[in-house]
Amino acid sequence: MSTRITVNGESRMVDAAPDTPLLYVLRNDLGLNGPKYGCGLGQCGACAAIIGGNLVRTCSMPLRDVENDHVTTLEGLGSVENPHTLQKAFIAEQAAQCGYCTSGIIMAAKVLLDRNRNPDDEDIKNALADHLCRCGTHNRVVRAVRRAAVELAR
Ligand code: FES
Ligand code: FES
Repeated sequence: MSTRITVNGESRMVDAAPDTPLLYVLRNDLGLNGPKYGCGLGQCGACAAIIGGNLVRTCSMPLRDVENDHVTTLEGLGSVENPHTLQKAFIAEQAAQCGYCTSGIIMAAKVLLDRNRNPDDEDIKNALADHLCRCGTHNRVVRAVRRAAVELAR
């Protein structure tokens, strides 16, 4: 069965069962490896993408529920040649170690900064509280988001 979704501004037809997790479609059918498979249970945040301005855990979102929706993954924020301000800030603050959690955290930070241009550390920590990082990059992540907020305010 085919389902139409818009991913990173491009309309795509996907041939997959309607109950296929969106994460599998993004990675396996569309070749978008920004979102990661962590827990597969909606608990770690590694698979997060943005749909309609909201952060969504794509491992727990069936394809049928995003038909005709606009999905943004990390690849839709920026590229190696033209990184998003958040991506630049994460590099500047060395806010990734293994990087497995980083895509989901950057997507969560994007939603935060879209809603709050001047977050304090508490706002940042609250926005990222449900994203697990086994490498312990939390302090650097907070600094990176703060740096991005300052850059975006210029
Ligand atoms: S893989 Fe989706 S929340 Fe962990
Ligand atoms: S950088 Fe390794 S899990 Fe976060």
